[in-house]
This record gives sequence, C-alpha cells and structure tokens, in this order.
Amino acid sequence: MKIFVDSADTEEVKKYLSWGLCDGVTTNPTVCLKCGVTGGMEGIKKRSLEIAKLITPRTLSVEVTSENPEEILEQARDYAKLAENIAVKVTITDREGNSFLPVIRQLVSEGIRVNVTAMTTFNQAIFAAKAIRAGMEANPEKAKISHFISVFGGRISEEQGVERTFQVLKDLRNWLDFHRFKGIEIIVGSVRTPENVEYWSRTGAHILTIPPEVIAKSLLGARTKETVAQFIEDAKKSMEELG
Ligand code: E4P
Repeated sequence: MKIFVDSADTEEVKKYLSWGLCDGVTTNPTVCLKCGVTGGMEGIKKRSLEIAKLITPRTLSVEVTSENPEEILEQARDYAKLAENIAVKVTITDREGNSFLPVIRQLVSEGIRVNVTAMTTFNQAIFAAKAIRAGMEANPEKAKISHFISVFGGRISEEQGVERTFQVLKDLRNWLDFHRFKGIEIIVGSVRTPENVEYWSRTGAHILTIPPEVIAKSLLGARTKETVAQFIEDAKKSMEELG
C-alpha cells in the first residue's frame, strides 16, 4: 500500500520524502489555499511544478478549478503539460450532480493521467472506473499509464460511520479485481485520524492520502515515549555506575 501526502506544503513533502513515507502527493483547491498558495491558476501551477519536480517519478495530483466541461479539458491539458508525473483531479460531477464522466473519458483517451475525485459512494467509483477504461479502450496507444479513483473516507464516515467506509473500499477493491480492471488505483482521501489510517489500510485500497498532521500523529504510540525515556534513563544510570 502506498502513502500519499495530502498537502501543497513543499517543506512537509520534503520531510515525508526523507522519512520514506511519501509515495506521491495530492492537492485540491482547499489544500492549496490552506498551504498559502495564492494567485489563482498561475499560483497553483507554480507550486505544482515545484512539488512535481521534488517528488519525480512519484505522482502529484492537481485539481481543476472550473465546473465547465470545456474549461476543465483546457485546464487539464495545461496541467498535464507542466510535468509527466502530474495527475489531473476532476470531480465525478459538478455541484448540481451533472456528470463529468465524458470529460474523464476524453482526458484518458488523450493519455492524460486522471484522478477522479470527491466520490462518496461505491456506485460513483465503479462508474469512474468504467469511464477510465472506456478512455483507455478508445486509444490503446495511450493506455499504458495508471489512473486514480479517490473515495473520500472521512466524508462518508461523517454521514454513515467508519464501518460503511471500510465496506465501500473493500467492495470496490474486490469489484476492480473480479472484473480485471487494470491500471486503476483506489485512493482513500479525507483521512482524519490515526484510527482511520489503521482501519482503512486493511481494505485493500492501493493508496491512503494523509494530511501531514495525521501522519505526525500516526507516528506516536501511547507508551513509546515513556519506554524510550526509561531506556535512556537506565542507560545513564548504568554509565554512572561505571564511574
Ligand atoms: C485528497 O485527494 C482529497 O482531496 C482530500 O483528502 C480531501 O479531504 P477533505 O475531505 O478533508 O477535504
């Protein structure tokens, strides 16, 4: 299972690369804003290029900022030109529930790596997988790269509990395997707590994307600090006895 860092903060990304915990990075407009990215699309592109270079050959997911299908196609082509390791995030629908599946299918057929995002149901995720596969079949020459489908675990849990998220993810992985969907990886987003990390790591999802603060908390164990303190204190005592 891979871990992605859910952040647009280059220092955090560098930190978790050095820890060996960064297999990729995801951002979205909210994450960018939180990390001080200003200047609209140009600002996002500038920061994305920095991160994409830093993590090559791992992937960076960057989200489009429009709900207009033509503009999404344009922005996606623009992002994809920035670096080979960029995946373009497109939400499964617009805010009214209108489908972006045609856009997703089109981008995949052009050989642009996509990350279908903001999904909170099993049905959305299998529809996204089918649109991606249709895009691959439309242009087999460009079908060699892999794509992502992002299920927002925390947001499902807020409505329906963590068990429901677990079941959706497990069923989705089984469905992809049973129907032999190749080149599509499940990302679990909206990871809010160390308990989410532990629980959803067991679903068969390929990737968990985790915000830096949750990665930091997940390093800690209830009795680890006290245990280390005991070892260091006893080591000191033993040195003192030696004189
Ligand atoms: C990652 O790809 C998602 O955009 C992110 O995890 C969403 O998190 P949120 O539900 O906390 O906004």
